[in-house]
Amino acid sequence: MLRQRGCVLWFTGLSGSGKSTLAVALEAALLGAGHAAYVLDGDNLRHGLNSDLGFAPADRRENIRRAGEVAALFADAGLLTLAAFISPYRADRDAARATVGAERFLEVFLDAPIGVCEQRDPKQLYRRARAGEIEEFTGVSAPYEPPETPALSLDTSVLDTNACVESLVTLLRQRGFVPESAPPAGRGAA
Ligand SMILES: Nc1ncnc2c1ncn2[C@@H]1O[C@H](COP(=O)(O)OP(=O)(O)OP(=O)(O)O)[C@@H](O)[C@H]1O
Ligand SMILES: [Mg+2]
Repeated sequence: MLRQRGCVLWFTGLSGSGKSTLAVALEAALLGAGHAAYVLDGDNLRHGLNSDLGFAPADRRENIRRAGEVAALFADAGLLTLAAFISPYRADRDAARATVGAERFLEVFLDAPIGVCEQRDPKQLYRRARAGEIEEFTGVSAPYEPPETPALSLDTSVLDTNACVESLVTLLRQRGFVPESAPPAGRGAA
């Protein structure tokens, strides 16, 4: 029915690297082209499903474990699932890949230098982390382990949002999750 194959695009990167911005922009582009897409964002899950978890390594692991399980369900339902989580630990991302299934899990590394992310600081989190108000902040007082073989790396300090979205749509087409060309407008209306 959906004329697409469910998958998970897993965005990983530092705070401020552009995960949420790109997930939302890509979702809009995909919906506009007639594809069913849905964003799963770390911030949103932490308000509800994962509100009992903090930022110590074991809690981060559980955060990503649950996110991987939910993402797998959305992919099963046929959606292009856009998962935006810092997910700093390689082992946790690998576990999510195993849950979702490697053949439909595309790891996208938002590879912006920490200096740029800190300069952006859209949520003023770096400022608060540097002031000692936030403990275990990724890149400042907690580690980030970059992917070794991501499906795609995007340096968002060099590429603008539109260029990133274009690369992501191309990736989805190349991997066969959406058809090479969009269905003609009005299909199914007659
Ligand atoms: N190419 C780009 N892609 C994405 N964001 C960009 C790009 N260029 C500039 N930006 C800016 O970088 C910031 C990224 O913030 P965003 O909230 O998306 O980061 P995040 O990775 O979701 O962080 P967090 O982990 O804290 O949720 C935004 O202010 C956005 O406008
Ligand atoms: Mg975000």
